[in-house]
Order: sequence, then structure tokens, then C-alpha cells
Amino acid sequence: MIRVHEVAKRFGEQEVLRGISLDVVKGEVAAIIGPSGGGKSTLLRCIIGLESFDSGRVELVQATIAAGLAGRERARIHRRLRGKVGMVFQQFHLFPHLTVLENVTAAPIYVNHVPQDEANSRAMALLARVGVAAKAGCRPDRLSGGEQQRVAIARALAMDPEIILFDEPTSALDPCMTDEVLGVMTDLAAAGQSMLVVTHEMGFARRVANRVHVFADGRVVESGLAAEVFEAPREVATRRFLRLATA
Ligand SMILES: Nc1ncnc2c1ncn2[C@@H]1O[C@H](COP(=O)(O)OP(=O)(O)OP(=O)(O)O)[C@@H](O)[C@H]1O
Ligand SMILES: [Mg+2]
Repeated sequence: MIRVHEVAKRFGEQEVLRGISLDVVKGEVAAIIGPSGGGKSTLLRCIIGLESFDSGRVELVQATIAAGLAGRERARIHRRLRGKVGMVFQQFHLFPHLTVLENVTAAPIYVNHVPQDEANSRAMALLARVGVAAKAGCRPDRLSGGEQQRVAIARALAMDPEIILFDEPTSALDPCMTDEVLGVMTDLAAAGQSMLVVTHEMGFARRVANRVHVFADGRVVESGLAAEVFEAPREVATRRFLRLATA
């Protein structure tokens, strides 16, 4: 699904990614964990073509993004990937002027030219699947954060993505709403959806992820099966992070 090969990136003097390599295979839930500022969001943005990088390569669902691509070329790849790679952000990023239903049907209708009726009935099924069908006619500002994030997940699913990237999807939510959203993500994982999840929810990563990649200072300091990384971390940096994260 995704192969990141030796990706490096700097912002001015700061080396944010120092040669990152990792892959995500079909049907897998991969988690990226690690301290704030380690470059996790930057990596997701590079993977999806929203950010350029200085060296290395990203291969994902039949596209290759090379280092140093010009903005226009990257934007073209990003558009091409839009249907195949879903993205869910910490701050939901729903369209505020559209209803919940319209948020979910917009891309299928305008990008994939799905007929309105068909898009509506699919969207209603997806909203039911994430437990917010009753809010279909509301604007996003009438919903709780947890409901908005579940709509954002339904919106990603509406394009039938081959993989969904999540960037700290529950960081803006209280514990109750966090549980609702993690419940939806756990169901997706059980249904075989490929996912790459940046998360500070260690319990979720431990229970649901197949593999875990530990980021620190722009490097993957440790990768392994979730059980291995959590039960028997090999690296000092991993042990230090897990001690702080689970304190
Ligand atoms: N557009 C930018 N311009 C300059 N520096 C940036 C930019 N985006 C990110 N950075 C810097 O890159 C580093 C990595 O940021 P990034 O957001 O990828 O970290 P993160 O691991 O996602 O952190 P968090 O867990 O807090 O979300 C930070 O030091 C940040 O200040
Ligand atoms: Mg981040």
C-alpha cells in the first residue's frame, strides 16, 4: 500500500525527517507513535503529496512521489490520490457551510460523478455505520467533536479509499468522544481497512495496530509488532517515550 524509502526533509536549518523508511501492507493497521515535534505530521503530509521533501521516495497505490517535485506536479499527484487515499485530521476539517450529508456526498458527486441519489443513499449508510445518521441534515457546528470526527471518517470512506491516513484523530476530543471515535476505527480495522494512524492513544495502538513505528527526532527509532514494541521495547528512546506516554 505504502512504501516510504529514505525520506528526508528540512525546514531551513531544521532536519525534520532524517531518512525515514517504513511500509504499510494491505489490510494492515500501522501506528506511528512518538514525542511531539518528531515529524509525524510532516511525514503524513509528504506521503499524501501535500508537502515536498528533499531526498528519498514515496510509493503508494500506483503512484510514486519523488524528492524535490515541483508544486504543480505534486498537486497533480495529490489530486489523483484523492480518491484512493483518505485523510482524517485532528481538527476534522469538515466544510462548515455544508450539511453533514453534503460533506459526505461532495467528493463522490463532484470528483467521481456519482449520481446524487446513489451518493445520498451510500452516504446515509456510512453515517449509520459511524453512528451519526440522525445528524445528516445538520451543519457541522451543531455536532460534538466526536460526532464531527465520525463524519470526517464517513467522508473519507465515501471515496472507497484503499488506505486511510489518520493524524491524531482523537487529540482534540474528551475521553468519552475519544472512545466513540476509537470504536469506529477499531471496527474499520476489523473489517480489513488499511490504515496508517498517528496517535497518542497507546491503548488503541497496542490493541488494534499490527505494527508500530516509533518516531523520535525525525527518525524511526524502532519498528515492530505492536506486542513486541509495547511489551519488550528494544530501544532506550522507545522505553523513555512509553514511560512518559503511559504515566
Ligand atoms: N511548515 C513548516 N515550517 C517550518 N517548520 C515546520 C513546518 N511544519 C512543521 N515544522 C516543524 O517540524 C517539526 C516536526 O513537526 P510535525 O508537526 O511533523 O511534528 P509531529 O511529530 O506531528 O508533532 P505533534 O505530535 O505535536 O503533532 C517541528 O519542529 C515543527 O515546528
Ligand atoms: Mg502532528
